[in-house]
Amino acid sequence: MAEINRREYFKMMGVGAAALGMAGMNFACKSASEHPKTGSNPSETEEFNTPPNREQRMAWWHQARFGMFIHFGLYSVLGRHEWAMEEEGIPVVEYMKLDQQFKPKPGFAKAWASLAKQAGMKYMVMTTKHHEGFCNFATDLTPYCAPKQGPGRDLVKEYVEAARSEGMRVGFYYSLMDWHHPDGARCAHDEAARRRFVDYTHGLIRDLMSHYGKIDILWYDVAWPLDAKGWESSKMNRMVFDLQPDIIVNNRNKLPGDFSTPEQHVGGPLKKGDNRGWETCMTMNDSWGYNKGDDDWKSPKTVVRDLIYCSQGGGNYLLNIGPMGDGSIPEPSVRILTAVGKWMEKHGNAIYGSEICQVRNSTYAGFTRKGNTLYMHVYFWPGEYVAIGGLKTKVNSARIMTTGQPVKVEQTEFQAKFTGLPQKAPDDLATVLEIECDGEPIQDTLWVREDRPRDGV
Ligand code: GLC
Repeated sequence: MAEINRREYFKMMGVGAAALGMAGMNFACKSASEHPKTGSNPSETEEFNTPPNREQRMAWWHQARFGMFIHFGLYSVLGRHEWAMEEEGIPVVEYMKLDQQFKPKPGFAKAWASLAKQAGMKYMVMTTKHHEGFCNFATDLTPYCAPKQGPGRDLVKEYVEAARSEGMRVGFYYSLMDWHHPDGARCAHDEAARRRFVDYTHGLIRDLMSHYGKIDILWYDVAWPLDAKGWESSKMNRMVFDLQPDIIVNNRNKLPGDFSTPEQHVGGPLKKGDNRGWETCMTMNDSWGYNKGDDDWKSPKTVVRDLIYCSQGGGNYLLNIGPMGDGSIPEPSVRILTAVGKWMEKHGNAIYGSEICQVRNSTYAGFTRKGNTLYMHVYFWPGEYVAIGGLKTKVNSARIMTTGQPVKVEQTEFQAKFTGLPQKAPDDLATVLEIECDGEPIQDTLWVREDRPRDGV
């Protein structure tokens, strides 16, 4: 990929970031790639990604499938998207004053955690520091942190406690890019600045990994303007795993990490043999941070469909809320998640712990799988019957998941037809047929089934 400058990078990070697949993008920063070596200490230069027991560390996460992302910071007060500081060119000293209005109400995080639980989510990932540089946690490394400014308390601590009390796994988002710190940009071309800034960054991550008990996920974000060598990412991950041996980390500090992070689109099935996970992160409207004017909300059906498609491909779905400055969740998000939760209550068994599903072709349904059981999630209900073309595996029986009502099956080599269904969808968001197969369900993926009988046509 051609080199891009900071401004272009920022632009892309806005609306177009998803399309460009930021996570996997090979972003080349001139100054970063020309960086002087990072020192001769072998622990800094020796390659380290994550420990080899990945499968074990990630077992709960694969089961979980569905998590809540939370973008919360000074931008939540402003309500103009979390990129407002950069995109609107707000002077740093002016922006900093937002802390005075940043007064999350007591118990704010409890409401997040209880909504997450109600929605059927199993883990949460909260921004501990976003690009704006404000730390939501206690640290001695900067005065620009919640306990020492407006909020007057450690917001991360409250979040961790709330999440745990609802049985949620706890994740920390951390942005490496920092618009506030004086070395945040200069580190790209000034070695002394890089040294200071990398020490600061590793120090903050150390604080996060040391003061809140067991943390389940570290979710790095935006590594601009350095590369893995510049950030000393290998050393960073090593420190993280020294402090939190069971944690999992993503791929946004320029190392592969334990899982990849397709943004604003459903990722793809894993390649055979790749035991790294993937997680689609997505907004419910078009903004991560609270954005008053953004009314482009997804429907509960769209959310459920995305969750199904993530599960189908063996991935997770991290769905975002952008609370307001007082911590309250915008009403549309509550409405959407409540509807999704009602669906999950009845159909969660087809999502949690599901495995990669090879069956995927349908114009009105998505599929998930557990062993030999195929779940057909019909989101556009055609009435009377549904059918799957090219299902190679013999179907033993089928029923409507929620009612247990048996469904008649007529199967040929070319078509599995499920008949006698109600005219009206039993469930608005997606009605699920539970289909017991003789082996792992496999569908042919032919465009044209050449050898099917054409009756002389
Ligand atoms: C992008 C955005 C950032 C958001 C993140 C979530 O990196 O810059 O604002 O937090 O995506 O994945």
